[in-house]
Amino acid sequence: MDVIAPEGSTVTQTPDTGFSGSGGASSAVWPDASELVYDDGVKARVDHLYTRVKDVVTPMEWPQFAPVIDAILRLKEERGATILAHNYMTPEIFNCVGDITGDSLKLAQVAAEAEEDVIVQAGVHFMAETAKILSPEKTVLIPDMEAGCSLASSITGADVQRIKAAYPDYPIVTYVNTSAEVKAYSDICCTSSNAVQVVEAVAQQWDTDTVIMIPDEYLAKNVAAQTGIKILTWKGSCEVHEQFTPEDIDDLRAAHPDAVILTHPECPPDVMARADFAGSTGAMAAYVKDKAPSKAILITECSMSDNVSVENPDTVFVKPCNLCPHMKRITLTGIYEALRDMKHEVEVDPVIAQKARASLQAMLDLPKPDAPPHFDTGRDIINVPYVSV
Ligand code: 13P
Ligand code: SF4
Repeated sequence: MDVIAPEGSTVTQTPDTGFSGSGGASSAVWPDASELVYDDGVKARVDHLYTRVKDVVTPMEWPQFAPVIDAILRLKEERGATILAHNYMTPEIFNCVGDITGDSLKLAQVAAEAEEDVIVQAGVHFMAETAKILSPEKTVLIPDMEAGCSLASSITGADVQRIKAAYPDYPIVTYVNTSAEVKAYSDICCTSSNAVQVVEAVAQQWDTDTVIMIPDEYLAKNVAAQTGIKILTWKGSCEVHEQFTPEDIDDLRAAHPDAVILTHPECPPDVMARADFAGSTGAMAAYVKDKAPSKAILITECSMSDNVSVENPDTVFVKPCNLCPHMKRITLTGIYEALRDMKHEVEVDPVIAQKARASLQAMLDLPKPDAPPHFDTGRDIINVPYVSV
């Protein structure tokens, strides 16, 4: 079936994917996003996706989203691109255009193995950099270059070099929420999904009882509570998760005694200690899927509850909400424009990339657990000192 693409170029609809471009990237002149129209063709092609998001996207929003979703899906085919969407993406991105969705670890694993030539990172800049480091031959696009992270901006490569000089006998475990340069001067990376495993493995490899874990002081404290390894850390934090307080959890518990409370390990330890479950965004999603609680409260970024609720319609979600302003820079229009113009390409200095790859690869080479690991929330809170440099 032939249909008319924007500006009149003909594309061929195929039964499985919907579209394949008739002449590659230049076959259609794609208009400004505001000129994309919610017409009968768009309705026929993408309205089935609304069924999936109807509880988290209003009927008023859909006519604005649908033509951009349609254009992204068609451009994706033309460009041979895959879209990696983090769990904090808004529901219309996460559910309607994301090819692979998940937590930081899963997106890094997928980026290392992606077959497509173009990766669009629907996430923040350090995630796109990670994708580029792991797949240097690919074109990696991010819809907004300014999509940063308070953790990534809390530390520089020079800081890590100073730490290394001051503590040559201790391995440096660096959270993936950092720049390529910071990763390059580190010994191994971790995510919230494998942080305990990485700390224990590297302590064994280095035959040491002390590990440096940077730059998230709360993650470091939460990991220290799970292991006998001594940890030194850095004064960095996530601006989203640090806002949750123990009183918030107590109030939520009092208001919803029947709800299970899940936290992210970037939360302060006294918040995590009050929760029923703690883990990466992937671990939280897996918990809700496996346990099917009647009511759940996710102490994390706002879009997470929306996205998990789509998969788990029988669970009621109470939605305390802290938005990540960096994640929210990624929009459908931004994805469309990045793909249309092949712009906002992420580049990493090859020398830095090679060193950073070694730190990421050391993490990816560790055995993969069967299920996403979680933190035991019942542990005593451990005070973790900062490195002194
Ligand atoms: P995970 O998805 O790895 O749990 O990380 C959360 C986060 O804050 C990413 O920015
Ligand atoms: Fe960074 Fe926190 Fe935003 Fe994640 S949620 S990108 S850690 S600021």
